Amino acid sequence: MSTYPDVSRSLELYQRAGELIPGWTQLISRRADQFANGVNPIYAQRAKGSRFIDVDENEYIDWVNAVGAVILGHADDVVDSAVKEQIDRGSIYTLNSPLEIELAEELVNTLPSAEMVRYTKGGGEACAVAARIARGTTGRDIILFCGYHGWHDWYQAANFGVDPESGEYPFAGIEPIGVPKALAQTVLPFSYGNLTMLEALLDEHQGEVAAIMMEPARSELPPTGYLEGVQALAKKHDVVLIFDEVSCGWRQSIGGIQKIVGVTPDMTVVAKAMSNGYAMGAVVGSRAVMEPAGRMFISSSYWSENIGLVASITTIRELKRRDSETRFREIGEKLSAVLNQTIVAAGLKGACVGLHSNPSVSLEAPTGVNPRKISTLFIQEMARRGVHTYMSFKATLAHTDHDIQQTADAAYGALSVIKSGLENNNLDTLLVADLKKEPFRRQVR
Ligand SMILES: Cc1ncc(COP(=O)(O)O)c(C=O)c1O
Repeated sequence: MSTYPDVSRSLELYQRAGELIPGWTQLISRRADQFANGVNPIYAQRAKGSRFIDVDENEYIDWVNAVGAVILGHADDVVDSAVKEQIDRGSIYTLNSPLEIELAEELVNTLPSAEMVRYTKGGGEACAVAARIARGTTGRDIILFCGYHGWHDWYQAANFGVDPESGEYPFAGIEPIGVPKALAQTVLPFSYGNLTMLEALLDEHQGEVAAIMMEPARSELPPTGYLEGVQALAKKHDVVLIFDEVSCGWRQSIGGIQKIVGVTPDMTVVAKAMSNGYAMGAVVGSRAVMEPAGRMFISSSYWSENIGLVASITTIRELKRRDSETRFREIGEKLSAVLNQTIVAAGLKGACVGLHSNPSVSLEAPTGVNPRKISTLFIQEMARRGVHTYMSFKATLAHTDHDIQQTADAAYGALSVIKSGLENNNLDTLLVADLKKEPFRRQVR
């Protein structure tokens, strides 16, 4: 393989963005430094199904899918027709839309923890609403958390307690600039899987903790009994248990990780994939926890907008109609199997690991080799072969066997380049892109 795709238009636009938009993009995971900058495309002009076309007219198989927000496939015909019809009827009304009740009923019938529902337009915003409701309902301030829960002050304040560079929690490399220092100690992290630590925090802050907010899973299912243990502690201390299923919800199970594990939290936050690419988020929960929200000031103009509502109703119904749980298992298992074969065929040590809804290539880096060089080279060489991905893969229902085979062929090429780089000790020469950055350390991997 000789050349790399021409991404000069993308690079030009990115430079222009740097002059106009602080931080270049609206989501950190979209920054060029999260991929192999210099080789990966940065700007797209069209997307359909499992693929997109960048602004330089290169076509890619997409395994990022708007960081998980696209689940049926880009520009899904059924969702987009429903949205277009709704646009013709009005994207927002002066009066409230019955769609709010229709989606609430759909969520109550889908998510075990849902008895009452509030809406937002994004996941972080929904987490902030959940934190407010939990604090308002209990009259307590402290939130214990384990996971990524967005950009808002209530959560980012957690970084005051740690050294952001070396600390385990929660965002190595990201300082809480602009977050009021008065919020320090109102939000405290705990380690995933460690019930002793959680119990110690609850004991230490007896009577002060409003909620435990956590991602119940991310790339693996929780250890047996872990979520049951968290729930028992929450009940013992009379604390609201909130599952943030913004990333782990929908693909593995339409009813969320809570449905698979059989642990029903008091509240759940969902967003991203629920609307297949239209802005939407929701907080759902038991009547007891949610009802007091009627007396709290939680209010925003575009939360009543119809497009996210109609997109969510249609997406959730389509996931059910298309038997998405079986299909995601099939796609994930096929992809893992062929990637495992290519790892062996390329002569590398490693495996495709993780949930079938988010398989991830994990390669053993020999001692002394920076693993980021290997991951950047993988991403670079996949992009060179028309596949846009991180080390992990988020499928949509639009991904076909042909996409999987093409991805496996590209992976064989990419992994063979890595093998040769390791053997000849010339990874640096093979890396034509900048070394990829890690934005923040995740507590739930
Ligand atoms: C678990 C979790 N919670 C919250 C968020 C924030 O959602 P959003 O980016 O829609 O604000 C994310 C985003 O990745 C997430 O993964």
